[in-house]
Amino acid sequence: MLLRGAFAALGLMASTSRALEVTVTNDASVKAAADTVAYGLVKFYTGNNTGDVPGNLPDPYYWWQCGAMFGTLVDYWHYTGDDQYNAITLQAMVHQAGDDEDYMPKNQTMTLGNDDQGFWALAAMSAAEHTFPDPPSDQPQWVAIVQAVFNEFVTRWDTEHCDGGLRWQIFNFNAGWNYKNSISNGCFFNLAARLARYTGNDSYATWAEKVWDWETSIGLINLTNYAVYDGVTIKDGAKCQDDMDKTEWTYNSGIFLHGSAVMFDVTKDTKWKTHVDGLIKHGMEKFTVDGDNIAYEQLCEPHGTCDDDQRSFKGYWLRWLSATITLIPDVKDTVWPLMTTSAEAAASVCIGSPTAAISGHPPFKGMAGTACGFKWNPTKTFDNSFGVGEQMSALSALIYTLVDDAAAPVTNTTGGTSTGNPGAGSKSDSEKIRVFDPITTADRAGAGILTTLIIGGVIGGCAFVSL
Ligand SMILES: *[C@@H]1O[C@H](CO)[C@@H](O)[C@H](O)[C@H]1NC(C)=O
Ligand SMILES: *[C@@H]1O[C@H](CO)[C@@H](O)[C@H](O)[C@H]1NC(C)=O
Ligand SMILES: *[C@@H]1O[C@H](CO)[C@@H](O)[C@H](O)[C@H]1NC(C)=O
Ligand SMILES: *[C@@H]1O[C@H](CO)[C@@H](O)[C@H](O)[C@H]1NC(C)=O
Ligand SMILES: *[C@@H]1O[C@H](CO)[C@@H](O)[C@H](O)[C@H]1NC(C)=O
Repeated sequence: MLLRGAFAALGLMASTSRALEVTVTNDASVKAAADTVAYGLVKFYTGNNTGDVPGNLPDPYYWWQCGAMFGTLVDYWHYTGDDQYNAITLQAMVHQAGDDEDYMPKNQTMTLGNDDQGFWALAAMSAAEHTFPDPPSDQPQWVAIVQAVFNEFVTRWDTEHCDGGLRWQIFNFNAGWNYKNSISNGCFFNLAARLARYTGNDSYATWAEKVWDWETSIGLINLTNYAVYDGVTIKDGAKCQDDMDKTEWTYNSGIFLHGSAVMFDVTKDTKWKTHVDGLIKHGMEKFTVDGDNIAYEQLCEPHGTCDDDQRSFKGYWLRWLSATITLIPDVKDTVWPLMTTSAEAAASVCIGSPTAAISGHPPFKGMAGTACGFKWNPTKTFDNSFGVGEQMSALSALIYTLVDDAAAPVTNTTGGTSTGNPGAGSKSDSEKIRVFDPITTADRAGAGILTTLIIGGVIGGCAFVSL
């Protein structure tokens, strides 16, 4: 008993002394805190261990979240200048590009939706825009990979149902095939807009317009209030809008926000600025509590029901709010209170010292007293929810306040070094299906980002799915 008491006291002391001291006006304090939080994040990563597969996180994290994590680490380097994770990031992003250099590695067939592929491509696009080190010339190049993903999205545009749009899934045997969701189409929109900006090729902008027009005409983006709804289920004989899931997630709002900002930069058409302003206004109302300026996932956070995926979403929203500032500095005054208050609140809950793993999740291996909780409000309270999503969201909250410290995203005429290939990604999806054991298939309902579809018994993960 005595011994246990002594340990408890020690633990308390450790967590008190470790508390991250963050003042957002002091960049050094933000960078120091980000360093600690990033350390705790990367400790979850096992892909660079001997015998493991570069790019994968351990179960239960889905493969898409690995792509999201490396996208965050690209930005971490860009905003802080700390390059200690660049080597594992480059290794992972090249390895997972797969045989066809398009972020469709055969091992992930069972969990590979358009959004999963899209999140890895978002990381590659950020690498190009931030002049992250290019892979050796005999390996896939950032812009070429994104063009491959773009070209494949084009081939999947489905006009048979709902007059267009991407389905959630790529393969018809994966759960969610009959769903057209905002995040998949948001990846398409965002990447098309950024390729247009990076390459100066109008064909990409034309596609971005087309995706936006579909998303708004179908009603997935409500142009009256700028709510972005989750998706629609396709049903034969029914009107497309009949079965719409109107859940609003932070990241859906964010991905269309940033894409709109890019389109404003590319076209100078003020309609995009109107969309930017509308999405910011609605997001700041919807995803905070009574205007407290602390980002939160309104559907599930108050009830403690956010899953592993959902616990990472608000970090991407902050990513895209900040990326919007780099293109339209005028919006900074509006979003700055949210970004800075969120950053300080997030840092204030990175005080956990969880000693054991919870329900099938890997344990926290960062420094004691620095595990980030999920809820930022109330501040200074660790809610015992920890993991890749929590750690990555807090890291995002911190680094994206450093937006004025780093160069704006480049293009291929303003310093970009990544080379493209407009014809990349030519194989058809049916040629890519791996031959697998049907018994395993039934057990492994593939699902990348579980939005509000409840799929029982899913045991996917970033780890190699043994087929
Ligand atoms: C994996 O990468 C991390 C972060 O850079 C590093 O600390 C660790 O030593 C690496 N592991 C191996 C086995 O190289
Ligand atoms: C696919 O899985 C095999 C076996 O674990 C592994 O060697 C390979 O690196 C994986 N490929 C990718 C792209 O993850
Ligand atoms: C930029 O990309 C476009 C489209 O691929 C290409 O036509 C142009 O030559 C590139 N410019 C530079 C400087 O690489
Ligand atoms: C512009 O993009 C389109 C669509 O991918 C492509 O077909 C065309 O070759 C590209 N043009 C240039 C100059 O890269
Ligand atoms: C769009 O937003 C307006 C204003 O909040 C609301 O009245 C309307 O019902 C919304 N439309 C849909 C399809 O939800």
